[in-house]
Amino acid sequence: MISKKMEDALNNQVAAEYYSAHLYLAMSAYFESVDLPGFANWMRIQYQEEMSHAEKLFDYIIERDGRALLKAFDAPQAEWKSTLEVIEETYRHEQKVTGLINDLTDLAISEKDHASQIFLQWFVNEQVEEEASVKSIIQQLKLLGDSKAGLFQIDRELGQRVFTPPATTTA
Ligand code: FEO
Repeated sequence: MISKKMEDALNNQVAAEYYSAHLYLAMSAYFESVDLPGFANWMRIQYQEEMSHAEKLFDYIIERDGRALLKAFDAPQAEWKSTLEVIEETYRHEQKVTGLINDLTDLAISEKDHASQIFLQWFVNEQVEEEASVKSIIQQLKLLGDSKAGLFQIDRELGQRVFTPPATTTA
């Protein structure tokens, strides 16, 4: 059975993942409003990924005979000034999430909870991928500067992204 401390921390992370999901859905709506459907699609997939992260944590707590809880979280921001601003905020947000996952891993180590340490490795790897993919969009946006044709091209590429659900097992 999972310790109370670990259970609380994982439940907080469930809320953090749901907050991330809402933030990215809000960003998707923003991109729809400025006629960038590819960016909107990319953010919609990001939303689906975050929902799956929350559920993965939720299921793990239950599997460890803990009590999964749905805690309140803040409403996300709704408006941004530019495409680059949104993607830069996404990058900062993912860095914050990486910090939360690292803290959870530290806690699992101090609690001598080997199962949680192994479970959290999936999230550690996921954060490496998340940060790298957002960073590459920032680099592309910076390279194109004010080019509308370039923005259209990136929008088309981001429109190709599809959601791949993570494995349902907690391993
Ligand atoms: Fe659930 Fe984007 O980290």
